[in-house]
Amino acid sequence: MAKAVTRYVCQECGRVAASYMGKCPQCGSFNSMVEEMLQEPAPKAGTVRGLGGRTMPRRIGEVTVEAEPRIEVPIGEFARVLGGGIVPGSIVLVGGDPGIGKSTLMLQMTLAMAGRKRVLYVSGEESERQIKMRADRLIGSQTAFPQELFLVTETNLQTILEHVREVKPDLLIVDSIQTVYLPEFESSAGSVSQVRECSAQLRELAKAHGVSVFIIGHVTKEGAIAGPRVLEHIVDTVLYLEGDRFQAYRLLRSVKNRFGATAEVGVFEMRENGLAEVPNPSEVFLAERMVNVPGSAIAVTMEGTRPLLVEIQGLTSASQFGNARRNPNGVEYNRLLMLAAVLTRRAGIKLAEQDIYVNVVGGMKVDEPAADLAVAAAIASSMKDLPVRADAVLIGEIGLAGELRLPGQMQTRLREAQKLGFKTAIVPKRLRKAEPWPHDIHIVECRSVYEALEMAFALERREMPRGRQVA
Ligand code: TYD
Ligand code: MG
Repeated sequence: MAKAVTRYVCQECGRVAASYMGKCPQCGSFNSMVEEMLQEPAPKAGTVRGLGGRTMPRRIGEVTVEAEPRIEVPIGEFARVLGGGIVPGSIVLVGGDPGIGKSTLMLQMTLAMAGRKRVLYVSGEESERQIKMRADRLIGSQTAFPQELFLVTETNLQTILEHVREVKPDLLIVDSIQTVYLPEFESSAGSVSQVRECSAQLRELAKAHGVSVFIIGHVTKEGAIAGPRVLEHIVDTVLYLEGDRFQAYRLLRSVKNRFGATAEVGVFEMRENGLAEVPNPSEVFLAERMVNVPGSAIAVTMEGTRPLLVEIQGLTSASQFGNARRNPNGVEYNRLLMLAAVLTRRAGIKLAEQDIYVNVVGGMKVDEPAADLAVAAAIASSMKDLPVRADAVLIGEIGLAGELRLPGQMQTRLREAQKLGFKTAIVPKRLRKAEPWPHDIHIVECRSVYEALEMAFALERREMPRGRQVA
């Protein structure tokens, strides 16, 4: 028999408690517990959710692995992040800040897909008319709308599931998970229990009927998918759409993928008629660069398996009132503090009375330590008023002693730099020679930041002490 249960659920992390607590014991947030009533159905004995029939252990050698059949996605950058297409019956979470372009991306994909697959686009945020207007803009005037794309504005999940039964789509888009609710739960849409239950039901739909489900989720300021991180393990794939709202570039990043490599990245540009793919992002990020100007250095970061060249700008200016400020945009604040300290102490660049600004061009976020050297060089370059060699990239993590450390995937990084026409790479010294480095880029190996900066500011090529050319 069903009975009503009162429980308290942390809206941040989903921790359930029997009584109210001022501070969540799991995530430590205050006043995040909310009382919820639910009718708990009596558990059915012996059934496993989402899995029908009896299971049977098999020897690992006997398990056949046919390639997963995939639904082809006509947007290359999107397909790449998914690991090569949509797996039928999979459930994908697309997260991101409000206004970043999640609905646009999904609508664009469905418009492109709908010629081949039946698609149901459920929106709890916009009316059908609004979606149509956006679709008009995305599709332009030249093409007719696909027959197989259905729109509905609905937030009651039960009604949505009824629509699914009627329309029988191959693809279901739920925009967004924070707006849908199940009436049998007392809590409001967007609360942890609603989000969790709704996505569990959508998951069952995906697994039992082979519908591929895309759930859109807004991200809170703290960076977790609104409230519930609970969502992340219910779904097969988690994609984040990131970028600076005031910049055109958007990165679609996979942070979890049961059907492909994680940390894969797709790059898009937000245009008037939707998101356009950027197949060669490094070129785009470097396009507006001014060469031979102090305060700029090129870093080679890895976004998943993909090398990305980004320009890092630094500016120092004497601070007022003895209160030096550090303003990073695109790099981490604490990393900047550390780099400033290392430059001051280990490279003789006195930054104590300087305001420091660092900017990663294109609204990119660079959190890889491999970009340390480029950040340090950009700052030092501004401070010394000397440009970094225009044909050089700088790669390397900086340690507290001012030493340079070798990041992974050097070969890929160097090859990308060379492909984009860079002639020189200033890199940490290799202590073990594991992988061969490319020949056709001049590699300058340095032990310390001090040494690397010397090399970076050597203006003429002949001034440069000959680095180890790798055979
Ligand atoms: P949207 O997809 O609604 O964001 P989300 O669903 O993540 O909240 O994107 C909204 C932003 O995208 C809005 O500020 C306008 C911009 N945009 C364009 O620049 N070009 C376009 O073609 C479209 C459809 C949106
Ligand atoms: Mg939206």
